Amino acid sequence: MEKDSEKLIEIAKQAREKASAPFSNFKVGAVLVGKTGEIFTGCNIENASYGLTMCAERVAIFKAVSEGVRAFQKIVVVADTDDLTPPCGACRQIIWEFCGDIEIILANLHGKTEIFQMKELFPRAFDANFLN
Ligand code: THU
Repeated sequence: MEKDSEKLIEIAKQAREKASAPFSNFKVGAVLVGKTGEIFTGCNIENASYGLTMCAERVAIFKAVSEGVRAFQKIVVVADTDDLTPPCGACRQIIWEFCGDIEIILANLHGKTEIFQMKELFPRAFDANFLN
């Protein structure tokens, strides 16, 4: 793992600490990196009306888009699981929409990491190309 990625994983771990997950107790942190190095963090934010819960990845993406950043290079996702936690289906759709085929770095709290391309995790995506 490159030094840069190690730093990003550390930032995602810190973002994870801010998670508001009283219902699942499953905390997730994310870091989205813009094309020119901008960093947007996210954590999951749950609600007593469970379906309103927002995942860490989408929080990071919506923060970035709301700040006017639209070009991205990678996203890091950290959770406390032995089998590394990948983005959920809803997040995959949103990642594809705004970030396309970016690098996805998964990590846990104990040094395990895996790297994917978004296309591997989300083949044959539905996107704006179909809306002609
Ligand atoms: N969660 C995320 O934030 N990201 C993922 O990639 C998987 C799931 C959150 C949603 C919910 O707060 C908790 O994890 C359990 O599903």
